[in-house]
Amino acid sequence: MDHQTIALSTEGGVATITLNRPEALNALNQRMVSELTEVLSMLAKNDSVRCLILTGSEKAFCAGADIREMAGQSAVDMIRTEHLHTFWEMVGRYPKPIVAALSGYALGGGLELAMSCDIILAAEGTKIGQPEINIGIIPGGGGTQRLTRAVGKYKAMEMILTGSNITAEEARSLGLVNRVVPVGQHLEEAKKVAATIASKGPVALKLAKQAINRAQESALSEGLEYERELFYLLFATKDKDEGMKAFLEKRRPEFKGE
Ligand code: CAA
Repeated sequence: MDHQTIALSTEGGVATITLNRPEALNALNQRMVSELTEVLSMLAKNDSVRCLILTGSEKAFCAGADIREMAGQSAVDMIRTEHLHTFWEMVGRYPKPIVAALSGYALGGGLELAMSCDIILAAEGTKIGQPEINIGIIPGGGGTQRLTRAVGKYKAMEMILTGSNITAEEARSLGLVNRVVPVGQHLEEAKKVAATIASKGPVALKLAKQAINRAQESALSEGLEYERELFYLLFATKDKDEGMKAFLEKRRPEFKGE
């Protein structure tokens, strides 16, 4: 499929998806969402890809859902088409780790997209927020839930109710961003993190991600039980044998996803 709104490149075990609608600061329109859905499904099935990077341009990671496209839609249209619902579900439950590399703006659906990823790196000065209230709506891609879990009730309330942005530096101090890097270096930094992740065993990566996400969704006791089951399950993999053997033999492990 020829992509108009995104670009895809792969290097080693890392696939980089770049949002590419510069004329709209990478706003998520239906076309971009269907191209992303198609590429994410394809990469999920590709065993040679172990970690993904999602990025945009230096000017904008993503300025949210496309307001031009949504402007004419009624509540009935939104309910009937389940606006972006399948997409948010898919990104939220994606089986491989995704590193989000932000710069410029990460607003509305753009921030929600980043928060559905697993590690968030941002260039200095990136403007981060949920400005939906400014256009009469509320976040619709999980923002009220994920932002609250990430920064706590009071900061989430302030951001969502006032619609004002915070900087990457503030987001970092709130635990919403892992690391802030100089402008222009967000992708390079993401590649380093992604390469480290991609060197690990894919089965362990998948289950670690699943277990951490479960911590967000359940009581601690249920989460710990779930984690224990997945932990024991990993002892049935050859990658665990290889990983432990390599450690004891003081060499690099060769994980095969078995
Ligand atoms: N949808 C559609 N087009 C957008 C857009 C969006 N979310 N954000 C920016 N654009 C377009 C602008 O309309 C403009 O296009 P034209 O040149 O054709 O007029 C172009 O991108 C450049 O934008 P600006 O001229 O506004 O650039 P700026 O530097 O002055 O401002 C900005 C940048 C502060 C990000 C501003 O564009 C802005 O506020 N954008 C909207 C942000 C927003 O409200 N996002 C939430 C969307 S709703 C949502 O995401 C719902 C959800 O939860 C799923």
